[in-house]
Amino acid sequence: MGLPMLLSLVFFVAMTGVVRAEPTQDKAVLLAFISRVPHEPRVQWNANASACGWVGVTCDSGNTSVVALRLPGVGLVGPIPAGTLGRLTSLRVLSLRANRLSGPIPDDLSNLTHLRSLYLQDNQFSSGIPPAVSRLGRLSRLDLSGNNLTGEIPFSINNLTHLTGLLLERNRLSGSLPSISIDSLVDFNVSNNNLNGSIPPTLDRFPESSFAGNLNLCGAPLPPCSPFFPSPAPSPAENPAGGSKSSKKLSKAAIIAIAVAGGALLLVALLLLLICWMFRRRERQRREKAKKGVGAAAAGRSGETVITSSSKEEMGGAGGAAEGERNRLVFVGKGGVYSFDLEDLLRASAEVLGKGSVGTSYKAVLEEGTTVVVKRLKDVVAMKREFELHMETLGKVDHPNLLPLRAYYYSKDEKLLVLDYLPGGSLSSLLHGSRGSGRTPLDWDSRIRVALAAGRGLAHLHTAARLVHGNVKASNVLLRQDLESATLSDYGLHPLFGSSAAPNRVPGYRAPEVVQTRRPTFESDVYSFGVLLLELLTGKAPNQAALGEDGIDLPVWVRSVVREEWTAEVFDVELMRYPNIEEEMVQLLQIAMACVADVPDARPVMPEVNRMMEELLNRTEGDDALRGSSDDRSKGPSTPPIATTP
Ligand SMILES: *[C@@H]1O[C@H](CO)[C@@H](O)[C@H](O)[C@H]1NC(C)=O
Ligand SMILES: *[C@@H]1O[C@H](CO)[C@@H](O)[C@H](O)[C@H]1NC(C)=O
Ligand SMILES: *[C@@H]1O[C@H](CO)[C@@H](O)[C@H](O)[C@H]1NC(C)=O
Ligand SMILES: *[C@@H]1O[C@H](CO)[C@@H](O)[C@H](O)[C@H]1NC(C)=O
Ligand SMILES: *[C@@H]1O[C@H](CO)[C@@H](O)[C@H](O)[C@H]1NC(C)=O
Ligand SMILES: *[C@@H]1O[C@H](CO)[C@@H](O)[C@H](O)[C@H]1NC(C)=O
Ligand SMILES: *[C@@H]1O[C@H](CO)[C@@H](O)[C@H](O)[C@H]1NC(C)=O
Repeated sequence: MGLPMLLSLVFFVAMTGVVRAEPTQDKAVLLAFISRVPHEPRVQWNANASACGWVGVTCDSGNTSVVALRLPGVGLVGPIPAGTLGRLTSLRVLSLRANRLSGPIPDDLSNLTHLRSLYLQDNQFSSGIPPAVSRLGRLSRLDLSGNNLTGEIPFSINNLTHLTGLLLERNRLSGSLPSISIDSLVDFNVSNNNLNGSIPPTLDRFPESSFAGNLNLCGAPLPPCSPFFPSPAPSPAENPAGGSKSSKKLSKAAIIAIAVAGGALLLVALLLLLICWMFRRRERQRREKAKKGVGAAAAGRSGETVITSSSKEEMGGAGGAAEGERNRLVFVGKGGVYSFDLEDLLRASAEVLGKGSVGTSYKAVLEEGTTVVVKRLKDVVAMKREFELHMETLGKVDHPNLLPLRAYYYSKDEKLLVLDYLPGGSLSSLLHGSRGSGRTPLDWDSRIRVALAAGRGLAHLHTAARLVHGNVKASNVLLRQDLESATLSDYGLHPLFGSSAAPNRVPGYRAPEVVQTRRPTFESDVYSFGVLLLELLTGKAPNQAALGEDGIDLPVWVRSVVREEWTAEVFDVELMRYPNIEEEMVQLLQIAMACVADVPDARPVMPEVNRMMEELLNRTEGDDALRGSSDDRSKGPSTPPIATTP
């Protein structure tokens, strides 16, 4: 009889305690939550008892508020109802891990400003990480792993300055990793998501397994990003977004070409990685041997290594550079305006600009926002010393119409050039791109101005630098806003490739004598320039292989048409809309035909070509008013016969 009495007394005391100190508001919130979320029966919250005694609930010392809610693995199902947990404003710990909660992580959790730990891992939460989590300024552990979260990791995570653990693995997060730089962070994991791009240097201290299993993540501690080792790009089939990124519709041929190129690139990347890995292993063995020995020189060299962090060391190795060669991105000429090194380049996000005759070009966006072009040369035969000397020579070239070389890199496996990036594209794409689809055609004045710009660059190369260009073609004329600042690129590279390969690379622009001698000369440059002028006049590409058509020998074709005295037929139909320019077109045609003379000695030198074009341009400018006012097109153009057809 005494025992039940005692129990009820205890119960009564407890009840009065509750009445005195009970987190009434929080209790209501908890009841609202649990009544709307299905769960296992072992979570029995008795509304008549104090909430502070409930399973999973912890109150502060005065029982005035709930400070922790831990309900791991209790079979909670469905979304967290809005306006419930977000109102437990004193909460420091919220753990709902290993349930079957779904839907978005409610925004109102950001009102829990005292929260230190948020464990929501192993649920089925979907949609994005709410940006409002950045308001949880005291958060030290954020575990959202093993959910179904999508979208990007918000940069504002950086606001969480006390964070020691950020665990986001096993979700479907995409986009690139923001530069998260939180000094207190010790546990970090974003593995098994769909992230891409380069790993920011602020995070390279974490192990490889923190980043593994992503779509397209690269850079230390993972293998470096392209241009050196293009990270395996998803095939077009599994990433349709990759195709839709470019605004232009791709032809079937282009898609096939891209698929083939992608496959080839992947193969090359894998091969290089393998080579690299073997190389690194050998290198490590050698280094270990060297460490055991006492060579003073070796000690000095490895002293250099100590400065760089171990992760950087890894990357240098991965870059395929021998220890002595590491970080040898050599700046030349005015390359000093840039402040990046090989590692920055390795980390840069890169996109293929095109495959040219000398190799593949990439557009690389460095972290500080600089954009450069990296050319990865193929089939270089020049030895290191020879290569370096030649790069120094090219680096000294300084003319507004010549694209400056900024830096180069030479290793056994990789030869890279770093150049300015000009967003304007090339003359070739402007002239031949999307013809007939309502684009603005390149007008006559612009054509002469671009030609003159290229001519000035070439003349400087010939007279001041005494260098043969060796690769004059429309796709090597890069445009700027101001057309007279157009620049020639890819000059003077032919000595690097040996005499057998280089001149054969550009049929269509190639002078006839070069087929035999295989050595480009000043005269053969003039010939190629003449073909370029014909291209501007006729609107026809001398090398249309890229467009899936047969190439056309422009000089031969033009000569045959002119011989038949159908000169007007030669000109680009897009030029026909401009009145009163026939005479000038014929004059430029004459200059062009002089340049493409079969006999090298019969061709004019570049300064002479430019002088003739300048005269033409001056006359054009003088006539501008007249031409602007005249809006009736002269029909049936009276074309003077061409005098200087060779
Ligand atoms: C709570 O108290 C009410 C009345 O005071 C009572 O009807 C109810 O059965 C009690 N519930 C539990 C679970 O004890
Ligand atoms: C707080 O509540 C718990 C559980 O109901 C109880 O054991 C404890 O004595 C209470 N503390 C205070 C200070 O009321
Ligand atoms: C956070 O709390 C404030 C006041 O307590 C409220 O006005 C606001 O709506 C809450 N925010 C969210 C996202 O619920
Ligand atoms: C994740 O979300 C997708 C749709 O957004 C859904 O099809 C899939 O079943 C979800 N996975 C899980 C484990 O909830
Ligand atoms: C950053 O955190 C502070 C509190 O630590 C908060 O007041 C502020 O709103 C947060 N900023 C953002 C952008 O979330
Ligand atoms: C990463 O993927 C997104 C699409 O999910 C794409 O827009 C973006 O360009 C990609 N970034 C890189 C560096 O590949
Ligand atoms: C990161 O998470 C993966 C599982 O996705 C795990 O295998 C790996 O060990 C974790 N790495 C670290 C550093 O915690």
